[in-house]
Amino acid sequence: MLSHMVKIPTLETQRLRLRPLHKEDFEDYAALYADPEVVRHLGTGPWDRGRAWRHMVFVQGHWDFTGTGMWVVEHKETGAFLGMIGFAAPEGWPGFELAWILAPRWWGQGYATEGARAALDHAFTVLEKDRVISLIHPENRASIRVAERIGESLQGRIAHFGREMLCYGLDRKTYLRETVPEADERPAVRTAVWLI
Ligand SMILES: CC(C)(COP(=O)(O)OP(=O)(O)OC[C@H]1O[C@@H](n2cnc3c(N)ncnc32)[C@H](O)[C@@H]1OP(=O)(O)O)[C@@H](O)C(=O)NCCC(=O)NCCS
Repeated sequence: MLSHMVKIPTLETQRLRLRPLHKEDFEDYAALYADPEVVRHLGTGPWDRGRAWRHMVFVQGHWDFTGTGMWVVEHKETGAFLGMIGFAAPEGWPGFELAWILAPRWWGQGYATEGARAALDHAFTVLEKDRVISLIHPENRASIRVAERIGESLQGRIAHFGREMLCYGLDRKTYLRETVPEADERPAVRTAVWLI
């Protein structure tokens, strides 16, 4: 019997589709987090397949329990799995976090910025969140640039799981006043129904 039904939206940008995670994504998901370059600033070390699997279940449970979460970033043209972008705010988290993680072969082409912009717009205009944060290791220059390019600014430093992290953030009022994209640049939203 179905105990939960969560509507997970799909966001579309010019080049990307932010879509729900499926169990068929497991090989790509495990490869992403097994890559030492990807996890370099995440403070965890590469994950084994078991940890990747458990984390996929966490991502799905996060959608189920909170109505928000991380999307798979899919390349529209080829259908390739680029990585994950979206929200994390489990118990004890210092705020509603927007995070981005892409496989290295896709870095440096503006994909993280493009996907994060769509997610940020969704957070403020659909979810109506007051504030979005991004926790970033001080040496993670690429991630800092993504935060800056989407309009986040440095709010302070925060102790997070024993490490000092930069807390970037943006509030809705500022976003709607200064950052909101033109109507024709807004991401298209479709809704998928995820059955558990
Ligand atoms: C952070 C990350 C998502 C960026 O993805 P991306 O698609 O390459 O990002 P974009 O192309 O949209 O933008 C990257 C920006 O960072 C800059 N950049 C990229 N690598 C950099 C580096 N090593 N040092 C400094 N700046 C760098 C780029 O020049 C660009 O800025 P610019 O447009 O002003 O030139 C990607 O590097 C990644 O997945 N890293 C591993 C996971 C991670 O650390 N995630 C963030 C956790 S907080």
